[in-house]
Amino acid sequence: MTRRSRLRGFTAALAVALMAGATLAGAPAAAGEPLYRDTSATVADRVEDLLERMTLDDKVGQMTQAERAAVRSPADLTRYRLGSVLSGGGSSPTPNTPGAWADMHDTYQRAALATPLGIPMLYGTDSVHGHNNLHGATIFPHNIGLGAAADPALMKEIGEITARETTATGPRWNFAPCLCVARNDRWGRTYESFGETPELASAMTTVIDGLQGPSLDAPGSMLATAKHWIGDGGTTGGVDQGDTEISEEELRAVHLPPFREAIARDVGSVMISYNSWNGVKLHGHDYLINDVLKKELGFEGFVVSDWAGIDQIDGEEGFTAEEVRIAVNAGIDMVMVPYDYPRFVELLRAEAESGRVPMERIDDANRRILTKKFELGLFERPFTDRSQAGTIGSREHRDVARQAVRESQVLLKNEGGVLPLDASARVFVAGKNAHDIGNQSGGWTITWQGASGAITPGTTILEGMRAAAGDPSRVTYDRRGRGINRSYDVAVAVIGETPYAEYTGDRPGSMGLDAEDRTTLDRLSAAGVPVVVVLVSGRPLDIAGRLGDWDALVAAWLPGTEGDGVADVLYGGHAPGGTLPVTWMRSADQLPVNDGDGQDPLFPLGHGLTYDNPAGPTGSARQD
Ligand code: GLC
Repeated sequence: MTRRSRLRGFTAALAVALMAGATLAGAPAAAGEPLYRDTSATVADRVEDLLERMTLDDKVGQMTQAERAAVRSPADLTRYRLGSVLSGGGSSPTPNTPGAWADMHDTYQRAALATPLGIPMLYGTDSVHGHNNLHGATIFPHNIGLGAAADPALMKEIGEITARETTATGPRWNFAPCLCVARNDRWGRTYESFGETPELASAMTTVIDGLQGPSLDAPGSMLATAKHWIGDGGTTGGVDQGDTEISEEELRAVHLPPFREAIARDVGSVMISYNSWNGVKLHGHDYLINDVLKKELGFEGFVVSDWAGIDQIDGEEGFTAEEVRIAVNAGIDMVMVPYDYPRFVELLRAEAESGRVPMERIDDANRRILTKKFELGLFERPFTDRSQAGTIGSREHRDVARQAVRESQVLLKNEGGVLPLDASARVFVAGKNAHDIGNQSGGWTITWQGASGAITPGTTILEGMRAAAGDPSRVTYDRRGRGINRSYDVAVAVIGETPYAEYTGDRPGSMGLDAEDRTTLDRLSAAGVPVVVVLVSGRPLDIAGRLGDWDALVAAWLPGTEGDGVADVLYGGHAPGGTLPVTWMRSADQLPVNDGDGQDPLFPLGHGLTYDNPAGPTGSARQD
């Protein structure tokens, strides 16, 4: 082929590509096109050009985010010029398939592009442990288990996979990672934390690098969100959305560092927290948002409220013009309304027209939002890139999740080396969490609260154990332990919590095991065989009173869909290396209990045994 014919071929291909809407990175806009369409211009110049062309309606719309289930018709995106749509926890299209997600996303996007300036919308979703709203996606361990693994490189890989599976269905904005520092295990969101120290959350911010990729406009990249600013894990009594009654010195020492680290990694957005700080709601906190987050820490991305978070400023139901004004003037750039977006648009426009929200503030919010949309490449590629949809729930992705499960297991007790199990051992497995994908995945899985049962494809812990045993028939299962007897070499009780999310998981009372687990354990202990307990829970539980009856104890946390990772440790395919990311109470009366508080816990922060260390409280996998 001669050089000329090669050139002709290239020109023809380029023409076809451009007609199909592709643009060459760096290609100047066609003659007559506005500067903001010119990919060879700087993002800053494109933002300024677009801002000059925007009406107040355009600008107010960009600051408005609506829940997909509340959007009366895609035409509302055009009518109200909405800048963003979200899926709240479990808010999925029907059918809940990658194609239906992508079609939904692209339908909203076409409506957004039908506005006078054609500004693309940005779709947000909570992919907090994989693309957890999507049936069939790879579900990773929740953060508390990843804090036990404490593997920054693995966290980055988890971010990459999460972004790949999520963006293949449309959304380019993830409301993750949660960088909360959980200081009281009564809190229903303890499992969304990497642990009780700022150092753990800071170390795990590598997930942002994975989510946002080498650049935001790279294939499979999405905007990350550092949440929730600030102090959600430090409320009095561990009450979700409660009051964090601590000094500024403690707030800065314990809860601020992970956000500094996230900003250093160019996190694209920050979500404001529901809690108050010494009685003042964060959603209206001018000092903590404008002065500390934006000015002192230099955060240049955009700030989003939490779900109906501005409604809480005055303590009354619903939102008012005053709450809209207070929130936006405090530094919130985009409001997750998420239902009555027509009224929000009306109120914010009126506040801007009156000057009670200065146009400088409106323009600053829009600059922040539009900068991220340009950086994401949304103006050039607004629709779903479905090319990676085939990787969703793939063996390769699930193997990474399985590795994360292995590394997150914490061996807390191992009397007489009862673990690892011998592949030929006759094992009796019991417990409500042994054969239940929903229970081992926890909240934020398929639905907001999560649910027991076969809610999505995966491998239960029991299935993993049967695969690890030489002969699956050596592993007997009865949920309640009926049939256990001395003929078995060992009993394994897989027990703990059932799914919950946010405030529904708050435990102001008992932190102990539920009645079913207690009955099951009694039955196993009465049989006179060694008992191994695998605790599937979102946090430490009050188990000291029973620990003496158990020969071994493994904290499995909330492993997600790859339960075989737990079996890998139980059968010795992987020696446990996880260490406690939270101090383990000796009794619920100790709560809050944290490292260095002078109390005597059952297991200290950082505790974790392995199989080649001597059993007992001193043998620890992590040599601090
Ligand atoms: C929830 C959570 C927040 C989540 C948001 C959208 O209430 O507080 O973490 O990102 O709403 O689902």
